[in-house]
Amino acid sequence: MSNPANRSSEPKVLISAEKLDERIAEIASEIQNDYQGREIVAICVLKGSFIFFSDVLRKLDLPIHCEFLGVSSYGDKKVSSGEVKVTLDINEPLENKHVILFEDIVDSGLTLSYILANLRARRPASLKTCALLMKPESMRVEVPVEYVGFKIGPEFVIGYGMDYAGKYRGLPYIGYLEPEH
Ligand code: PRP
Repeated sequence: MSNPANRSSEPKVLISAEKLDERIAEIASEIQNDYQGREIVAICVLKGSFIFFSDVLRKLDLPIHCEFLGVSSYGDKKVSSGEVKVTLDINEPLENKHVILFEDIVDSGLTLSYILANLRARRPASLKTCALLMKPESMRVEVPVEYVGFKIGPEFVIGYGMDYAGKYRGLPYIGYLEPEH
């Protein structure tokens, strides 16, 4: 994630609440079609994904077990070190289960790459990723993401679950902070 030093406090809108609603309905309908007749384990990667996760899940008419996975990617640093620590593990065994992982954003891809390797070792029947945002220009590793909400540029984004220094997670849209002059 890029260093958002010296940002102004008034966010600008990058993706409106209406556009988010529309795209989330489309993603949910894709998942609904792909998983018809199957039970799924849906994993929310904390913290940033909690709003996206609950909005997609409310649109799915499937038998779903919800799980929450806490990871800390960067410690105190603002750029990804590639070191990922599991701070809260899921409770459910994944062997022979159909698993969908929900991420708010794939930036360098290092967090997702670590999580996927960790979950694959638990031998799920299938494992797919659904990410609201992807930054193709920032990717440092190749990771498969089967459901993507929006591809965005390198801007530092906040809102709809995502924070800057612990703030802005409750914004109903995806925003960005412009550097202060
Ligand atoms: C964000 C996001 C991903 C990760 C993506 O988490 O939720 O887990 O960064 O970055 P990467 O692709 O460069 O690895 P963050 O560390 O901001 O934690 P949070 O979700 O708890 O706010």
